[in-house]
Amino acid sequence: MIMQVKTVKVNASKSYDVLIGRNLIERAGKLIEKVLPICTLALVTDDTVDALYSKTVTTALENAGYKVKKFVFCHGEESKNLTTYSEILNFLAQNELTRTDAVVALGGGVVGDMAGFAAATYLRGIKYIQIPTTLLAQIDSSVGGKTAIDLTHGKNLVGAFCQPSLVICDVNTLSTLPKEIYLDGMGEAVKYAFLDKKIYTLLQDEYDILDLVYLSIDYKRFVVENDEFERGMRKLLNLGHTPAHGIEKLSSYTISHGRAVTLGLKIILKNSLKHGYIDKELFGNAIALIEKQVGKLECPYTIKEICSSSLNDKKRSGDYITLIMVYGVGDCRLVKIKVDELWGYLD
Ligand code: NAD
Ligand code: GLY
Repeated sequence: MIMQVKTVKVNASKSYDVLIGRNLIERAGKLIEKVLPICTLALVTDDTVDALYSKTVTTALENAGYKVKKFVFCHGEESKNLTTYSEILNFLAQNELTRTDAVVALGGGVVGDMAGFAAATYLRGIKYIQIPTTLLAQIDSSVGGKTAIDLTHGKNLVGAFCQPSLVICDVNTLSTLPKEIYLDGMGEAVKYAFLDKKIYTLLQDEYDILDLVYLSIDYKRFVVENDEFERGMRKLLNLGHTPAHGIEKLSSYTISHGRAVTLGLKIILKNSLKHGYIDKELFGNAIALIEKQVGKLECPYTIKEICSSSLNDKKRSGDYITLIMVYGVGDCRLVKIKVDELWGYLD
């Protein structure tokens, strides 16, 4: 059988491949073998993904000669905390993983962020491999090396930059995603559309999901290679995220991240029109694209509520907050705004 596998090589502080294709998890052992000598692999996953894909992945890894130790935690953002993190570390220690062993993160962004952070810190850092199984994790969180856990005071407040050794995106795994979770990922995909013309064009018509995943990862590669530690242009990936974080918090996280990003993007687009950065035609096309890809969403909060909720955002530095505004498709820019002027700016 001829299998189409697209590869994106990320040349960050560490170089690694992102493989995108179908039926890849069945070949995980053979693919990992190319970057990691035979060792013990801690397979970290959540209960939902465990039931769907652990067996296939474990068989593939064991057939290649790896010893597999599995750690499963309860799915959901609520698990992305210090308790689960500490349980993973203890699991690695109990199973005597050494610096030549590695972690395999099998699941969505929660699994990837937490397993990645455990790998980044256990024994001052061991290797890890991402096998993302949500659209959001495939197009965003598994690539670029951001790892984190939440504190009771806020999301992703503890973390590390630590690039994986390999990322395996098997788009077949997306077929089991509930629609709502798939659409969350589409929220991030639509964000990419305003950053990269190729993605904007792709989303205008019927497309193969493999192409969307590939183009999104390739755009992220470009950004990460230029600004791995988010000193400048990587902030572009936060398009829509400042209002989104405010919306998520106001809803006590009942509005998911992807939905909040879509609502945040609409707020940014409306204000890009208001400030004359984009014209009415582009604004109309942009809203039509968002509605086609993720549906019609109405924001239940006022701009004033969103602004005051957004001001605790960790992207704030001192008296300033950086917003990403749309000037055109493929032309988004960082705009630094005084915190007390945000409400006037995002009227
Ligand atoms: P998630 O990991 O919670 O997955 C969503 C749900 O889908 C879970 O219940 C999971 O069990 C289930 N699931 C996963 N794969 C499945 C599959 N193939 N079939 C059926 N169900 C499946 O959430 P997510 O949206 O993937 O990720 C969100 C997390 O990612 C957040 O914690 C966010 O902070 C983080 N994130 C990190 C980065 C980064 O750069 N590190 C970027 C964006 C988001
Ligand atoms: N998800 C944003 C980033 O990786 O920078």
